[in-house]
Amino acid sequence: MSTARPGIPRHLAVIMDGNGRWAERRRRPRVIGHRAGARAVNVCIDFCLERGIEALTLFAFSSENWGRPEEEVGALMKLFLNALDREVDELDRRGVRVRFIGERERFSPAIRQRMEAAEAQTRANARLSLVIAASYGGRQDIAQAARALAAEVAAGRLRPEDIDEAAMGRCVALADLPPPDLFIRTGGDHRVSNFLLWQLAYTELWFTELLWPDMDAATLQRALDDYAGRERRFGLTSAQIAHGATENTSA
Ligand code: IPE
Ligand code: IPE
Ligand code: MG
Repeated sequence: MSTARPGIPRHLAVIMDGNGRWAERRRRPRVIGHRAGARAVNVCIDFCLERGIEALTLFAFSSENWGRPEEEVGALMKLFLNALDREVDELDRRGVRVRFIGERERFSPAIRQRMEAAEAQTRANARLSLVIAASYGGRQDIAQAARALAAEVAAGRLRPEDIDEAAMGRCVALADLPPPDLFIRTGGDHRVSNFLLWQLAYTELWFTELLWPDMDAATLQRALDDYAGRERRFGLTSAQIAHGATENTSA
């Protein structure tokens, strides 16, 4: 991975919300909104490639979204399958590494097989890391990390007193990426909805009323401009930041 460039996030994390309302406003079924939302994903990927953003994590489906009406969940699964069939070659050609985080075992064998194939096909790519959070929940992520560390302790390979932030950080999702610098949520709600709870500790948050299918480069640029003007203090004072103290303390 290249080094940080001032004002440009290395890692962008996005809650793509508002597909259903986008369709409802047009008196169309919600699934039409999800379809339009899939197009907006490409807008976002193009933007990251153009701006040299290194990692993009997209919240596509939460652990809680399984509770939606069967018809909507079924339509979303079909959309995933189609997107995996349609998009991976092009992503590969453009140097995008694709990965999935979340409870993969909850998906059908057909979807799991395509997820694995997409990861294998794009493994060597380094231009952009695209992480799709699917059946992902931040609490579940933290619980699985605790479970992994407990197993290490039970096996005698780790002492309880060695369980610290670094050890947890190695076990949660996205451990090999810098933590998200900028979080964007569309759809007007100001909440995290069980997205990356551990990883967002010092992420800059940016919200817009815009519904996800309407996402465009100009809106993404507004978020980046806003981000570029923020002072990330990581708990320190402005004066310390001015003297470069974060070099040793930022995650
Ligand atoms: C986000 O859009 C996509 C998923 C959660 C799968 P929604 O479907 O949540 O859209 P709204 O929030 O109901 O408008
Ligand atoms: C968050 O959106 C999950 C995704 C975008 C995949 P939701 O629509 O599920 O969130 P809530 O229910 O409004 O918090
Ligand atoms: Mg929603």
